[in-house]
Amino acid sequence: MIDSSDFRTKRIPLSHGAGHMPVLGFGTLIPDAAATISATRDALDAGFRHFDCAERYRNEREVGEGLQAGLAAGGIAREDIFVTTKLWNSNHRPERVKPAFEASLDRLGLNYLDLYLIHTPFAFQPGDDQDPRDQDGKIVYDHGVTLLDTWGAMESLVDSGRCRAVGLSDISLNELLPIYESARIKPAVVQVEAHPYLPETELLEFCKQKDLVFLAFAPLGHGIKPGPLEDPVISAVAARVGKTPAQVLLAWAVQRGTALLTTPRTAARARENFNISALPEDALDEINRIQTRQRFNEVVRTGSPGFIPQGR
Ligand SMILES: NC(=O)c1ccc[n+]([C@@H]2O[C@H](COP(=O)([O-])OP(=O)(O)OC[C@H]3O[C@@H](n4cnc5c(N)ncnc54)[C@H](OP(=O)(O)O)[C@@H]3O)[C@@H](O)[C@H]2O)c1
Repeated sequence: MIDSSDFRTKRIPLSHGAGHMPVLGFGTLIPDAAATISATRDALDAGFRHFDCAERYRNEREVGEGLQAGLAAGGIAREDIFVTTKLWNSNHRPERVKPAFEASLDRLGLNYLDLYLIHTPFAFQPGDDQDPRDQDGKIVYDHGVTLLDTWGAMESLVDSGRCRAVGLSDISLNELLPIYESARIKPAVVQVEAHPYLPETELLEFCKQKDLVFLAFAPLGHGIKPGPLEDPVISAVAARVGKTPAQVLLAWAVQRGTALLTTPRTAARARENFNISALPEDALDEINRIQTRQRFNEVVRTGSPGFIPQGR
């Protein structure tokens, strides 16, 4: 019998029969190329089966390398893992979407994706420069394309059969609603920052009503201190239930109905962050009563990522 309080094998169904997402996801926003390969393999070895990538992280090739080696060594089939990558802001023009998707697949060494996300709702000047700036250092936006135009090209990828589901990231409920209402293929997933200091309750409720998966990034507050990892309520719960603060934060995320992404960079942390099981109800209530409110990643305000390593 499957123990429903053990989150290591828990998966959430995607709408329209587009498969299942393992709730515990490994994020690949890792600055160093060699560390990307080893952390990806360590995550696979620890048991992670959900991998979150992005063309903007500029390491899809290394993630692909880590995955291919890990799958072969562990006798794990491609169908047993769930892989996401994301369309960057400089590729929002509909004619750029398919080439960007294919270039990502090629770098990852895959022939289909489980999920493709529009990384942010901001369109930048189209082209190869991922961070186009004017002479004053300001981002150059593209006002000649709407998010709905880009969404149409994402839907065509699902039609092509090489992408099982599509979704959005770094989006507010107000920005999501018009896409949701007019989409032919509804978004299956939204990926946003979420942790006890930024619970995004309204968006989560919408996702639950409409059968969208809410995928939380920064469940540990990006590891920034002070932050949720050092919160006194989290520390007290961790001591009481015999878990680490990271395990408490990850369990809270799953128990409120979200999937999550975390970025352990060592084998020991990968095992720690994968070994997640349910917390008692009173612990959840205490965490839900935390009053601190803080956003750690400003990407939602401009489309410019706060955490892309220098020089990448
Ligand atoms: N859509 C977007 O715009 C967006 C933005 C950001 C991230 N993401 C995705 O989300 C993924 C998750 O990234 P994240 O930064 O949110 O991950 P996270 O797991 O919340 O934070 C990672 C940080 O937490 C620390 N950490 C990890 N495990 C720990 C543990 N067990 N105990 C103590 N500290 C621990 C790490 O420390 P060390 O540095 O010491 O290892 C690192 O500094 C990314 O890789 C990426 O795939 C998406």
